[in-house]
Amino acid sequence: MRAVRGRRGTLAGATTGSADAPLSRLRCIACSREAPLHGVQQACEACGDLLDVVHDLGRLRAARPPRAWRRLFDDRLGARDGPERSGVWRYRELVLPDLPVEDIVSKPEGNTNLYRSPALEAASRTQEVRIKHEGENPTLSFKDRGMTTGVSFARHLGVAVVACASTGDTSAALAAYASEVPGLRCLVLLPRDKVSPEQLSQPLASGALTVSLPTDFDGCLRILREVCRTRPIYLLNSINPVRLEGQKSIGYEIVQDLGWEPPDWIVVPVGNAGNISAIGKGLFEMREIGLIDRLPRLLGVQAEAAAPLARACREGYRERVLVEAGATVASAIRIGDPASYDRAVREVRRARGAFASATEQEILDAKALVDASGVYICPNSATAVAGFLKARAGGLIGPHERVVIVATAHGCKFSRTTIDYHTGRIEGVDPARANRIVEIEADARAVERLLGPEEDR
Ligand code: F0G
Repeated sequence: MRAVRGRRGTLAGATTGSADAPLSRLRCIACSREAPLHGVQQACEACGDLLDVVHDLGRLRAARPPRAWRRLFDDRLGARDGPERSGVWRYRELVLPDLPVEDIVSKPEGNTNLYRSPALEAASRTQEVRIKHEGENPTLSFKDRGMTTGVSFARHLGVAVVACASTGDTSAALAAYASEVPGLRCLVLLPRDKVSPEQLSQPLASGALTVSLPTDFDGCLRILREVCRTRPIYLLNSINPVRLEGQKSIGYEIVQDLGWEPPDWIVVPVGNAGNISAIGKGLFEMREIGLIDRLPRLLGVQAEAAAPLARACREGYRERVLVEAGATVASAIRIGDPASYDRAVREVRRARGAFASATEQEILDAKALVDASGVYICPNSATAVAGFLKARAGGLIGPHERVVIVATAHGCKFSRTTIDYHTGRIEGVDPARANRIVEIEADARAVERLLGPEEDR
């Protein structure tokens, strides 16, 4: 990969020493062997483990004092065109600093709202709770942040085929970004009957080769990794470290939105564990560069039916836990063998965090509570909300700590679950907060009778 220079490289001139040397490289998460960041390499050549993108933090720290970094990112908030309009590429010197700007594929993404949640503050007796609504991204989930970096890098490499296995959202994002690159083929593998109709519609609409397999997500990913060993396909699941570089901007936006004062906790739903790893890595780098002076703690939450990391945490991480993932309304995190397991454990422990789990009842109650406050979230996001409520009740999170919960996708992607809950059709779940559909005859008087006596307002 070429270094960014001249007009394109805001870092050029500001960096110290050999400004032409790449700022980023790959490093194995297990044996620390390093490799240049170019090519389709996805695993360490020495030991086969996952790779991280690592940046030259010394050069980045020397490039600008923290105040100047903050000013640069604040100035870009008003950008009207160019990649800096994106909530990912606004931080591009910290994301993929060597990527030529002309290779960027951006819709743009990010810039999602950080909602204050009086409903959650009241329900949990906590002073400050916010929801970072990643469902406000172009394809309605946080995956767009990783796909703008992943597909931009794919374009930079000139690959012919990109692919992913997915519980739905990754495939929607990959297909939508890939369709912007002329000639780039996109293959997505989905577990049959385990993604919502809205999610299934997205890669179909974008023109991806959409394949449904009679297995679960873990099975789809295994098969795709096998195919990638024999064919020159660029794999864009979150084992791909370039994707995580985009996803870490969720943490950057949260901190910037809070005036560069990090919250005490960031709560994230966990499936394949790429996102919590990315957020943790990004915040750590931010602290190394001096943009923040302490790390928020991380709470990763899984659905009880698919909670290997929550169990590992309870057992003090004594051994690596894998489970067969059972059915859950949080279908996007129905994963028993998270690909970024080790990365996530590393980041959560570094951030003095924890993993927890939530039951179906807790997930659906939490969803109904947040939905009814006008912020429509998906069941996966609600898993994080439920985990927060439990952590608050159990005392892990204190009443005066500032909490941000990441809602990872929009409620509109899972309308069936919402309707089934409100109509009392989810087995084993008490729809205590149900807002039932009222069916009456098509007649104005009937509507008036339903409203009851006229109210003064
Ligand atoms: N929330 C939603 C809405 C998701 O779609 C996912 C993952 C997660 C949370 C968990 O993120 O895997 O990084 O821990 N969905 C992937 C997919 C697996 O294929 O769309 P993670």
